[in-house]
Amino acid sequence: MTATAPRPTAARPTLRTLRDRALRLAELVTTPLLPADYLDLVHPLRPGADLRGRIEAVVPETRDAATVVIRPGADWRPHRPGQYVRIGIDVDGVRMWRAYSITSDLGRTDGCFTVTVKAIPDGKVSNHLVRRAEPGTIVQLDQATGEFCLPEQRPAKALFVTAGSGITPVMGILRNHPELDDVVLVHSAPTADDVVFGTELRDLAAAGRIRLVEQHTDTAGMLDAAAIAELVPDLAERATWACGPLGMLEALEEHWAAAGLADRLHTERFRPTVLVTGEGGTVTFTRNGTSLEADGATPILDAAEEAGVLMPSGCRMGICYGCVLPLREGAVRDLRTGEVTTAVPGDGVLVQTCISAAAGACDIDH
Ligand SMILES: Cc1cc2nc3c(=O)[nH]c(=O)nc-3n(C[C@H](O)[C@H](O)[C@H](O)COP(=O)(O)OP(=O)(O)OC[C@H]3O[C@@H](n4cnc5c(N)ncnc54)[C@H](O)[C@@H]3O)c2cc1C
Ligand code: FES
Repeated sequence: MTATAPRPTAARPTLRTLRDRALRLAELVTTPLLPADYLDLVHPLRPGADLRGRIEAVVPETRDAATVVIRPGADWRPHRPGQYVRIGIDVDGVRMWRAYSITSDLGRTDGCFTVTVKAIPDGKVSNHLVRRAEPGTIVQLDQATGEFCLPEQRPAKALFVTAGSGITPVMGILRNHPELDDVVLVHSAPTADDVVFGTELRDLAAAGRIRLVEQHTDTAGMLDAAAIAELVPDLAERATWACGPLGMLEALEEHWAAAGLADRLHTERFRPTVLVTGEGGTVTFTRNGTSLEADGATPILDAAEEAGVLMPSGCRMGICYGCVLPLREGAVRDLRTGEVTTAVPGDGVLVQTCISAAAGACDIDH
């Protein structure tokens, strides 16, 4: 008797293998565009796609600020209140990336998050978002990041010092942490009407959730750190978060350090502090073929974008490394420290173009 060898059974194709085969077949007939590109057109927020978002609405807040409601792609991960998101948007045909603090309540049921943008004079992205962005626009996103958040162990007493658009991360915190029961918020804006989230903040104050000190700088001038200390007599007992113009943050840091409270103060900067400038030079983007004259005070990123070079970027203030490019040859100066980095071909030195200015001729591999 001969035993019959078991016939090999063909594995039944699963849905996934069938889909993969269909995609491979489709790739053959659709090259140079890949099927994923077509899927992106039809379903840009699908799982597995590059992270994107769709602008659902732009809601005016003040004469120059608006809240942008964004539906993120399926792979978006919930943020921690106080964090920011990098958004890439096409402005006049050029993709630009900027960081915006997330202002929404994590409990939103529509799956969207919000950022609140203040249009600054000559600001390319902020004016576009506040005045021209249309619902339906697809933007690029990164996952939320940042450390301007409350610690796990909530402070018994908190102080927030904000000015202008610096209220945004703090609004994100206040909306999501109703458990904070002793909060002072000192906020400065030119007038009462310029206070972003003015109605909501005043409602929180009326409900006893926060003590709100509004400083209208057009009539009352700027508050200095000493005046804040007078307004908040128990300041030393409060964990403090501050966000606003660089001058304000530097003054607070000095004051808190002098009082031995440096570790109680957390600050969020929207732009880098430029300390040192010097001679500029000719910057050449070797692969792009563009050369430009840059002064020693302008970040290479800004100079390049101004000349129409499409540059990688992110926070634009030296924290995310989204703008890093190889310096093939030449010298650049770190605008925050004055440190000069030089390279000769083969060094492969990487530089952050958002906080580096030309320090003589330099070639960037881009
Ligand atoms: C972590 C982080 C969080 C941020 N969150 C918010 C937010 O919630 N809301 C918000 O409105 N902005 C926020 N910003 C600032 C934002 O990323 C942009 O810098 C801002 O919108 C200006 O971009 P722009 O393209 O309009 O200006 P650009 O075209 O880049 O610059 C135009 C001119 O304005 C100057 N400039 C650039 N940035 C600023 C600034 N922040 N203030 C004053 N002058 C400036 C430039 O030097 C230039 O001269 C945040 C920035 C960071 C790093
Ligand atoms: S853009 Fe974030 S470090 Fe340069």
